[in-house]
Amino acid sequence: MTGVLSFAPEWVLQTVYLVAGVLFIQGLRDMTHPRTATRGNKISAAGMMLAVLVTVLWFEILDPLILAAALLVGGAVGGWLAVSVETTEMPQLVGLFNGFGGGASALVAGAELVDQFAVSGAASLSIELTSTAAIAGIIGSVTFWGSLVAAGKLHGVVGGSPISVNAGHAVKILFFLSAILAGLFLIVQPSFLGAAPMADWIPSYWVLVAAASVLGVFLVLPIGGADTPVVIALLNSYSGLAAATTGFVLGNSVLIIAGTLVGASGLILTVIMCDSMNRSLTNVLFGGFGEDTDSETLDNVYDGNITETSPEEIVMLLDTAQRVVIVPGYGMAVAQAQHAVAELVELLEDNDVEVEFGIHPVAGRMPGHMNALLAEADVSYDKMRELEEVNPTFSRTDVVIVTGANDVVNPKANTDDSSPIAGMPVLNVDEAQSVVVNKRSLSPGFSGIPNPLFARNNTSMLFGDAKDSMQGLVNDYKES
Ligand code: TAP
Repeated sequence: MTGVLSFAPEWVLQTVYLVAGVLFIQGLRDMTHPRTATRGNKISAAGMMLAVLVTVLWFEILDPLILAAALLVGGAVGGWLAVSVETTEMPQLVGLFNGFGGGASALVAGAELVDQFAVSGAASLSIELTSTAAIAGIIGSVTFWGSLVAAGKLHGVVGGSPISVNAGHAVKILFFLSAILAGLFLIVQPSFLGAAPMADWIPSYWVLVAAASVLGVFLVLPIGGADTPVVIALLNSYSGLAAATTGFVLGNSVLIIAGTLVGASGLILTVIMCDSMNRSLTNVLFGGFGEDTDSETLDNVYDGNITETSPEEIVMLLDTAQRVVIVPGYGMAVAQAQHAVAELVELLEDNDVEVEFGIHPVAGRMPGHMNALLAEADVSYDKMRELEEVNPTFSRTDVVIVTGANDVVNPKANTDDSSPIAGMPVLNVDEAQSVVVNKRSLSPGFSGIPNPLFARNNTSMLFGDAKDSMQGLVNDYKES
């Protein structure tokens, strides 16, 4: 079918696709630094808008009215999600987007098969077409269902701790083999199961989709909620692979470019997240990390060794401090305490105190989580120090304020080889003169293990919600 722009020579379409591809690459490049990330997002979105518009105008894919209505509804839902979702819910939103990308790839590949079959019969189903469609169908379906389960876990609607699935690995192998077999049928004999009236629908493809869908659910279901962000990054990579493969099915270059970029960047992100947690991907996928810690274990670690403090006492510490480092973590994001923290920094600087932030690469629940929150509160990027930069400075720091962070400051990573976070690089805040840890209780963080930092001689605990505590500290500091 042809669209309103189809009178133009083919090179025009390919050139616009190339421009869109360049915009994607520039956008990704900008996203590698927090300072330029917002611009990168806009550039990539502009590239995607260009690619969508030119595709819609070039090919008459659907009735223009239906298409316009779909674009309007989809755009409105996307816009509403973008403004209404809290930053702490971003990982599950990303998970959902990945899932929709994977699902769309599987459906488009299937629709292309059905379309080709209807127009030119079984002879038109070349091995290139059926094999790429089979790959897109399997990866896309695994991505769709796996992402729904992962997003559900992060949102708390699917159990967060590892779920033991009956005959776990055997079930996965069974459905994996079923999907592969259906894919082989599709390649060898596209209409093998296609007796009338089902022939037009290429049943082997949809059997493959069904088997891969069950596989997607069973692959992600047993993974601990704690590891779900890494799985979401991996599924992001899968959604890119599915899109790139669907690009081959359709012969669409911009889909191949965009899918490959998403596939590669998702994989790099997964590796970075695993490295920062000192975990292997196999361990994440099959390890069952983040199970509940026995409360007795916690009691033994902390019993009688916890020093509680108050905002007034912390103000006294700050009054004599020359250098302060603030270490934010997931709890700051949950409490939305970044504005109070930013106000405290301003006050300290007005009193000539040197203040910096120590940002761990996996603090929070997504890459750049802390940087994005602090930037939202107008904290300059110059004050945000990465782990390698800030660690050597703790020994000359008077006060470290840890707010809502736990695992990223856990010295067990350096001292206990049997700990699940063993070897994970951490912020060595205990080297500072005084450490204040602000959280609501002694509960463990993401990894589910106790943190001996809380019981150190130079540590005092400020119990309470991060926003209330930081605001209380600001108020007391102003009055002092
Ligand atoms: P966590 O170790 O998860 O600790 C967060 C702490 O925040 C909890 O111990 C909790 O203690 C406290 N908290 C929760 N709500 C709070 C509130 N309203 N006010 C004050 N405190 C609150 O966080 P972290 O130190 O940022 O470490 C991140 C963890 O996530 C690491 O283990 C990392 O491996 C993992 N992870 C990160 C990523 C990325 S990319 N960032 C991806 C996957 C996994 P209370 O309940 O006692 O308040």
